[in-house]
Amino acid sequence: MVYYCGSPIGTIAANDPTSSSVLNYDQVFIRDFIPSGIAFLLKGEYDIVRNFLLHTLQLQSWEKTMDCHSPGQGLMPASFKVRTVRLDGDDDSATEEVLDPDFGEAAIGRVAPVDSGLWWIILLRAYGKCSGDLSLQERIDVQTGIKMILRLCLADGFDMFPTLLVTDGSCMIDRRMGIHGHPLEIQALFYSALLCAREMLAPEDGSADLIRALNNRLVALSFHIREYYWIDLRKLNEIYRYKTEEYSYDAVNKFNIYPDQVSPWLVEWMPNQGGYLIGNLQPAHMDFRFFSLGNIWSIVSGLATRDQSNAILDFIEAKWSDLIADMPLKICYPALEGQEWQIITGSDPKNTPWSYHNAGSWPTLLWQLTAACIKMNRPEIAARAVEIAEKRLSRDKWPEYYDTKKARFIGKQAHLFQTWSIAGYLVAKLLLADPSAARMLVIDEDPELVSAFSCMIGTNPRRKRGQTNLKKTFMV
Ligand code: GLC
Repeated sequence: MVYYCGSPIGTIAANDPTSSSVLNYDQVFIRDFIPSGIAFLLKGEYDIVRNFLLHTLQLQSWEKTMDCHSPGQGLMPASFKVRTVRLDGDDDSATEEVLDPDFGEAAIGRVAPVDSGLWWIILLRAYGKCSGDLSLQERIDVQTGIKMILRLCLADGFDMFPTLLVTDGSCMIDRRMGIHGHPLEIQALFYSALLCAREMLAPEDGSADLIRALNNRLVALSFHIREYYWIDLRKLNEIYRYKTEEYSYDAVNKFNIYPDQVSPWLVEWMPNQGGYLIGNLQPAHMDFRFFSLGNIWSIVSGLATRDQSNAILDFIEAKWSDLIADMPLKICYPALEGQEWQIITGSDPKNTPWSYHNAGSWPTLLWQLTAACIKMNRPEIAARAVEIAEKRLSRDKWPEYYDTKKARFIGKQAHLFQTWSIAGYLVAKLLLADPSAARMLVIDEDPELVSAFSCMIGTNPRRKRGQTNLKKTFMV
């Protein structure tokens, strides 16, 4: 636990007594704290979460300059620590505690944490839902904080896509792994944060434009992901037969994907039943790797349709021995190997094949998997995964991650007593014991979005035209 002026405000990333290199694991990471925060909420320890939310809000960047450059207003740090500084004056022993955020200026690789602000909004909604205390989200400074994060994400850029454009390493995978562009994990968190924010924003004159922009983006984003990121056997076969170099509005192969990208591993791997959302989509590039968090959070947030959500769970069941194996859950599948590993990761020795971010297995992902299974009324899938995890997790001293194809080894450089491994397991257990508590995390499908979506499907040249029953007009 980390204390600030006598009050608990967060948890450190790891407390590994056997490790001599602490690196930055003695800090409070925003993304790592989320499962701890949910566990505290489930146990009725609301104040810790409230403290965390308020103090991290104050860390939101205003005018901090680093390396001659200021991060966008509204950016949340990846992590922060409490520093004790000496006060000027006569009394030499007088000190003061200050919060010291890291927006990426000290992080390994100088990566910008795009997910932090999105997680912050998601936790804020969960706090209100669980504690019933809405006064926190109604505070002016909190409302301003939500708006600053939204403005940063909704700002116009040079991009053609409704997905959020980010650099590599901007989320849980915070090293080079070839996920720059429009990675699924960020899109799922973005969608989720937009929905949570819409629920919490106080209606007032000044926010009408923001809410309009938010609604437009929600429709466009869900359409884009559901249509273009989805893959199953049928779609794969369609891509395999794609014509290329199509010019015009009604092109079938909109992103000019060359069929040779359908690699042999994927043809073998795709089961007859089930499907998933691919990792990334760019012009002439589909990243077919399966990324767990993005897929699971698409279920939780309703970015995936109901059918797609069930198909993703079918897929996880069909690929159990690859994705769960001896320890849930593979962060992505498969690993980058050989020359691909050299070129894409920059020969990163921490991300060797089947290790760490490069298809290692991360127990913390259990809590998100559990929330998704409960939402889809299939908690037995999560229960099976938890059963596998508890055979080893505590005995192995709660490692950060596991290595090898089947997750047989504790990760090469894994920290032990990693807080979010413990918290992820705890949340999974608590949710399975009381599935109704998952309400604070899941978002049900919004009827307005569903109707906007079916209208867009109707105007898609590949499908038959459907009924247009939109009450509102959205610009996409
Ligand atoms: C690693 C992980 C990152 C996590 C951090 C602290 O850098 O990739 O997701 O936040 O460790 O545990």
